[in-house]
Amino acid sequence: MCGIVGYIGNGEASQIIINSLKKLEYRGYDSAGIALIDDNGNTALYKEEGEISNLELILPAITSHIGIGHTRWATHGKPITKNAHPHSSGNISLVHNGIIENYMELKEELVLEGYEFSSDTDTEVLAHLVKKYYTGDLHTALRTALGYVHGSYALAVLSKDHPDELIAARKDSPLIIGMGDHENFIASDIPAVLEYTKRVIYIDNFELVSVKQDSIQVFDLEGNHKKKEEHIIEWDPEAAEKAGYSHFMLKEIHEQTNSIHETMLGRLHELEGDVIFDELGLSRAQISQIQRIEIIACGTSYNAGLLGKYLFEKLAGIHTDVDSASEFRYSSPVITPGTLVMAITQSGETADTLAAVHEATYYECKTLAITNVVGSTISRDASSTIYTRAGPEIGVAASKSFTSQVVVLYLLAILFARVRYTMDADKAQQLQSELRKIPGHVRQILENERSIQKCALKFAKTNDYFFIGRNINYPIALEGALKLKEISYIHAEGYAAGELKHGPLALITKDVPVVAIAPQGHTYDKILSNIKEVKARDASVIAIADMDDTEIKKYVDAVLPIPKTDEILSPILSSVVVQLLAYYTALELNCSIDKPRNLAKSVTVE
Ligand code: M6R
Repeated sequence: MCGIVGYIGNGEASQIIINSLKKLEYRGYDSAGIALIDDNGNTALYKEEGEISNLELILPAITSHIGIGHTRWATHGKPITKNAHPHSSGNISLVHNGIIENYMELKEELVLEGYEFSSDTDTEVLAHLVKKYYTGDLHTALRTALGYVHGSYALAVLSKDHPDELIAARKDSPLIIGMGDHENFIASDIPAVLEYTKRVIYIDNFELVSVKQDSIQVFDLEGNHKKKEEHIIEWDPEAAEKAGYSHFMLKEIHEQTNSIHETMLGRLHELEGDVIFDELGLSRAQISQIQRIEIIACGTSYNAGLLGKYLFEKLAGIHTDVDSASEFRYSSPVITPGTLVMAITQSGETADTLAAVHEATYYECKTLAITNVVGSTISRDASSTIYTRAGPEIGVAASKSFTSQVVVLYLLAILFARVRYTMDADKAQQLQSELRKIPGHVRQILENERSIQKCALKFAKTNDYFFIGRNINYPIALEGALKLKEISYIHAEGYAAGELKHGPLALITKDVPVVAIAPQGHTYDKILSNIKEVKARDASVIAIADMDDTEIKKYVDAVLPIPKTDEILSPILSSVVVQLLAYYTALELNCSIDKPRNLAKSVTVE
């Protein structure tokens, strides 16, 4: 997730902006940049790949009191200097956090009109659009430009024609204004300004802000004034990085209302029931000719892959196998040129997954990477790459990166199904419209967080846990168990519920809580039988079930409800519940949640 900063005041702008950008480092970034208007009225622009310290090395001493800065988390275009922000057109420079969905069509029009592009980013179209509509009034130019844009943005705009003002705007990406003494700030998040002021204004969607040294004015997109409330922030700097959450993991679980939306942004075309992945690198003919899909991944990404298997087979009728990358690399895989090898990895750096991709490349088949990190090694090694756009994940336990991987797999399955005529437009439209509701459903689950916490507390002192599910819910049973053992150190097993009687039932006693993933659907009666099976052994059962399910309450000790959705999409919702259950269990046991023992975020060794 990019970080944006703007400063205007009596202070030394370059130092303050660099300092503020460093406070946003926790958001993750791959390049940084700054634009200043110096005291002679000239714009100075510097950007550099990698750490902010690299930018500092090339930044000369400039006396300036107004500027904008940016840390970039790449979504469009590689993490290289030319793609770093600010982007400029004429006298206008801007920094952007978000995604301009329709940037390709806007870019084509701008190129025809003679605008020259020097980056591969979606953001550069915004700079040119503002320039195009600028006739002396920067507010009108920005408002007009934003009228043509679909997607999400938090922006800070600077122009040497207006050296006493910065303009900011927001839609669906975070933006705050820090109010100081004869100085004001624009930022993506509070930590950036906390060293200078505790007074902030939260900017809402479709608001445009004029930021001057001694005034802040907020407008709607029609140019009408808006009154805003000032807030005093009492967080210490560490709490501020976590936006007030006690752990990054909890913050990241909560961010799923937005990250899932970002994953879908610009990729769903409900009217035609189509899915668009410009970056897929497979023609319709190639999709039609896929004979088999081989998914390779590790840990949580492997669990996402297992869910993918159900989707590709059920929706698109493509035989799919899922292998742990660490096993695949030493196996004798039967891969033909008709096999599509899909490598799923949040970090894009997992050594086993990279080695498995190299192994697959040897068979001359197409390799498709699904990763969260633009420019990661896998994106260079695979034939093509789809980015999950979950934003950086700091907690070692994967949460939002998992749901975004899963959403990409849903979209791919719908795309493959449409191309292969195994799904009609009506069904595709219905699934897409249900998918669009998922962020709202996640919000509803988060509103019920306290009851999940209560349930976690009740069973936190146990030594063993079981998670069971059937069919499409089985991968979530595996994921629930993995999450719990990883951060709470409680032994947990994930099982296909029908397998219980083939061995593990011997372990079920009154001291072993069993989480049953049991939304309504074609295996509902079967999982009810499994629940009765474990209840007969005196186990306590926690059911993750549909909100309107009154039947299941009769058989279980606790119900953790999820909103009603299409049966096939419910695993996304159940996964948020198991994440919260694991989180609150670990919290109760006082574990090191963001950095569990013996584990690393990026497993770059075999
Ligand atoms: O970066 P990757 O997705 O390739 O990582 C694979 C696993 O190491 C990772 O998913 C791990 O299982 C998670 N930390 C679990 O929460």
